[in-house]
Amino acid sequence: MDLRPIGVFDSGLGGLTGVKALLELLPGEDIVYFGDTGRVPYGGRSRQTIVRYARQAVSLLLRHDVKAILVACGTVSTNALEDIKGDYPIPITGVVEAAAAAAAKATKNGRIGLIGTKATVRSSAFEQRIRAELPGAQVFKNACPLFVPLVEEGRTDPSDKVLQLVVEDYLAPIKAAGVDTLILGCTHYPLIFDAIARSMGPGVTLINTAEAAAADMAELLKNAGLLSGGGSGSLRCFVSDSTEGFAQSAAAFLGRDVGDTAQQISVDEL
Ligand code: DGL
Repeated sequence: MDLRPIGVFDSGLGGLTGVKALLELLPGEDIVYFGDTGRVPYGGRSRQTIVRYARQAVSLLLRHDVKAILVACGTVSTNALEDIKGDYPIPITGVVEAAAAAAAKATKNGRIGLIGTKATVRSSAFEQRIRAELPGAQVFKNACPLFVPLVEEGRTDPSDKVLQLVVEDYLAPIKAAGVDTLILGCTHYPLIFDAIARSMGPGVTLINTAEAAAADMAELLKNAGLLSGGGSGSLRCFVSDSTEGFAQSAAAFLGRDVGDTAQQISVDEL
């Protein structure tokens, strides 16, 4: 049994979809979340910068004595996790392994789509993991840089005309490739799950990376004897920009109200 909190971080608030999934699986755990809202998006940045930002986020969470860290960000998981995870004394997991395993299990025709930020698509982390699970699988990927700003602007309703147009444009090459499984490689995308599902059609299984990664973390904690043992958990949130508007945005990502509970932290201190 371990009463320390679980740390979760993302470039912004998208990682709260991972927190939502963790809270459903492990309601008794305390969670400390960091969203680097002052520097979001990470998706257009270099690998070196993403590694540096990831180390700062891990340092912040370690100051809160976390027992494990879930990198609830596709961009950091694909560009920085392998570089940094061995340097810390606690388990640090991301979204790639769990989502790749879920996709390899779901596909019948071996044709898997991947959408994410530019940095995620530039990296070959997902393909490597998918092929380790399912040799011979073919991966068809497309960067979707307008999805994150649309989600952050609250344009998530599947009947939103602008969203529909952008979704159709980005998904056209993936659909043309005949995939039967699509990995939503960014933790912002569960908020536009319905728009993506509508466009892909009923024959395509969508993999929610945030849910897959949360299930993986829950399993890891259980197997390592690190669960808190029940009760009711708490959520503390830190952001690197103003907390104004946090309550409204967080409610959209978490699917429930958490009020104005976030604290601003200076990135220079990290
Ligand atoms: N939530 C981040 C991810 O999963 C995307 C946002 C960004 O570009 O920073 O990749």
